[in-house]
Amino acid sequence: MKTEVLQLNDESVVRAAELIRAGYPVAFPTETVYGLGVSAYSKEGVFRVFEAKGRPSDNPLIVHVGRKEDIEKAARTVTPLAKELIDAFMPGPITVVLDKRADISSAATAGLDTVGVRIPVHEGARKLLIACGVPVAAPSANTSSRPSPTCAEHVLEDIGGKIPMILDGGSCSVGIESTVVDARGEIPIILRQGMITAEDIARVVGEVRLSDGVTDIVRSPGVKYRHYAPKCEAILHVGADAECVNRFVAKKVQEGKIPVVICESAFAKEVKGARVLDIGTGVEYTANFYAALRKAEKLGDFVIVQNRFEGKGAGALYNRATKACSQNFLKA
Ligand code: TXA
Ligand code: MG
Repeated sequence: MKTEVLQLNDESVVRAAELIRAGYPVAFPTETVYGLGVSAYSKEGVFRVFEAKGRPSDNPLIVHVGRKEDIEKAARTVTPLAKELIDAFMPGPITVVLDKRADISSAATAGLDTVGVRIPVHEGARKLLIACGVPVAAPSANTSSRPSPTCAEHVLEDIGGKIPMILDGGSCSVGIESTVVDARGEIPIILRQGMITAEDIARVVGEVRLSDGVTDIVRSPGVKYRHYAPKCEAILHVGADAECVNRFVAKKVQEGKIPVVICESAFAKEVKGARVLDIGTGVEYTANFYAALRKAEKLGDFVIVQNRFEGKGAGALYNRATKACSQNFLKA
């Protein structure tokens, strides 16, 4: 299949919405990562999305809508807790899990009777979703287990030839996926961390729980799979110990490897003997992280990820980085 890559504009949005409504997946930008969207009413369409990504069929998709009044097209009931979260954080990088409406395809929710609902703040994404007029099931537009795509080229690299269209809206500003919150009860349970943090949520609703990803595994099936991984081996250094990193780099070079260090700006000049990807600090680092993993696997064959994990969203980034590095840690 030929994959058309079009600039996101009024004209391309109309064509994309037609495809999505007819059950053909289109990749589109959001503020978090690129999504691969299809009508949440279309079982065949949802199968096409799973197929293009190579995604396990027991991992549910998030359903996207363009406006608050459309949330009820996906969710059967909006709890008082969900209302508070919606008022405080939507549109934005958050997904609330609620009871599902019967007409949302159960293929999209992997057979669960709940649905994750999200309104992106990205203007182009919302334009598209409103043009679709139907709730849009959309996972991240990467091949399953790869780093999520933060620009149109990443989508093309992974699933080009498998989908009819990609809408190009430039790079994603947040760069990691939305916070997923179970809002069915009285206390919100964070199932996946994101840039809207537990502190942000606690400030609005008081108490909040963070799922440990083990006992709550059935609540968010996605968390059990391998995720965000580059094609080569990767290791995580939590901190800024240059001696430790450089010793490790030298060892890898001796083994005949080509090490690449992804690091914070202040650490970049400390690195010796490796290719260095300085991707900024704080939220800038987070926005560049997935792109850096994709770049690093092309530049070398062993990735060392350095970060001190401080400041806003550090917990979410730590969660992605540990998974990208398959829980391998480089300690002093
Ligand atoms: O920022 C995002 O959320 C992006 C953009 C495209 O919106 N989407 C995204 O989708 O990251 P995906 O499919 O890559 O990740 C969805 C996550 C998975 O961990 C999945 O298990 C969880 O959300 N999820 C979806 N529906 C759920 C539900 N009904 N109950 C619990 N977890 C759910
Ligand atoms: Mg994903």
